[in-house]
Amino acid sequence: MKLCMIGTGYVGLVSGVCFSDLGNDVICVDRDTKKIENLKKGIIPIYEPGLDELVLKNYKNDRLKFSTNLKDSISKSDIVFICVGTPTKKNGSAADLSQIFDVAKEIRSSISKFKIIITKSTVPVTTGDEIEKIISQKVSKKLFSVISNPEFLREGEAIRDFTYPDRIIIGCNDKKSNTILKNLYSPLISKGAKYVNSSRRSAELIKYASNAFLATKITFINELANLCEKLDINVEDISIGMGLDKRIGGRFLRAGPAYGGSCFPKDTKAITTTADKFKTNLSVIKSVIKSNENRSSLLLKRIFDILRGKIKKKKICFLGVTFKANTDDMRDSPCLSMIPSLIKNGAVINYFDPTGEKKEFKKIRNVSFSKDISSAIKDSDLIIIHTEWNDFKSINFKKNIIKKKFTIFDMRNIYSLTKMKKQKIRYFAIGC
Ligand SMILES: NC(=O)c1ccc[n+]([C@@H]2O[C@H](COP(=O)([O-])OP(=O)(O)OC[C@H]3O[C@@H](n4cnc5c(N)ncnc54)[C@H](O)[C@@H]3O)[C@@H](O)[C@H]2O)c1
Repeated sequence: MKLCMIGTGYVGLVSGVCFSDLGNDVICVDRDTKKIENLKKGIIPIYEPGLDELVLKNYKNDRLKFSTNLKDSISKSDIVFICVGTPTKKNGSAADLSQIFDVAKEIRSSISKFKIIITKSTVPVTTGDEIEKIISQKVSKKLFSVISNPEFLREGEAIRDFTYPDRIIIGCNDKKSNTILKNLYSPLISKGAKYVNSSRRSAELIKYASNAFLATKITFINELANLCEKLDINVEDISIGMGLDKRIGGRFLRAGPAYGGSCFPKDTKAITTTADKFKTNLSVIKSVIKSNENRSSLLLKRIFDILRGKIKKKKICFLGVTFKANTDDMRDSPCLSMIPSLIKNGAVINYFDPTGEKKEFKKIRNVSFSKDISSAIKDSDLIIIHTEWNDFKSINFKKNIIKKKFTIFDMRNIYSLTKMKKQKIRYFAIGC
């Protein structure tokens, strides 16, 4: 099939490449000329394991193309996927849909034969109705069908998640388009993915409900971790004990920093705002948002306690600064608020991240980047393990740190409390 992905970011690029690998002809379009030029040279704009080889393979065999020409790309395609960003509005907590509606306007001036138009972007319920309205102002409804097909891939696991999804949700009331999409996804369905055909509005809400539920699970265990810290209980035991119950499940039940990233913070805000618009109070999700927003200040207080209130001139090393491992995405990473607060209180920060130096910290005084783990931790008073990269799982701290007295605050509970005790290392973890 001939596909066009509008927006070549995490979702557009990964799903575009994977669709081409399944034998489709795919054009990935973006308005960012530099990104497209780079992709044509084989320079991948994001860190995502396995993505570069897959791009190269499919670009070379000509099934994958990159373009900045939206009109031309749409006219050459049967199915058009909208994969642009839906960030939180600058003033407020609703989703900013300007990129979506701009694209809808561009699509309507590029349709001359039947097109299936799919929103893969996460959009509030009824956005599909709006897109349909915009396009039908200039194009006959017989010439297009607007469908919701939310994407559930996780950064860092994106190719695996796309290729082996738990489910494929197609929000579509039109039988002909549904058959075409079932056919497009048949290689994944035959490997075990469940194909669910729902109404368009249901599909839009399924995506937000899923993200809000996962954010709730994380926040739930984070709050229990706070209680465990007061009771000399290890929250890891609670996660295991609860997670073994099949009704609950162990995933997303690991205590740590606040949830961050490009999806959970914005999507929890957007779903409560949509519900407010329809005079429905999603009070559980609202309290999740509040609890998560408090989490970074709570962890900051813990850092102060660990350093016994003496933070001035203390050398603090962050291992990992992205919101989770295996991604270079800094959007809403918890350390974006923690690092400036520590600096304000006189600390000196050094960090290492396997995906390199971050522009977010370049202009902050007293924040520096180290090129490897050993030089990052060498001279530290406190090491904060902020993300769970495999690279951080077996560090010989005693060998690499020159200071006699140093402390570790493991925000991902990677290391064993007893082993640290045996080595006489001052070690703190979350929820114990
Ligand atoms: N990142 C994830 O893990 C993830 C997972 C599932 C769903 N989503 C959702 O998918 C959507 C996209 O997220 P993302 O992280 O890929 O965003 P992103 O910011 O990485 O990429 C969006 C791309 O769209 C391009 N764009 C914007 N307007 C355009 C236009 N008019 N024409 C052409 N290109 C245009 C931008 O230049 C950018 O490259 C969001 O709604 C997000 O919530 C993201």
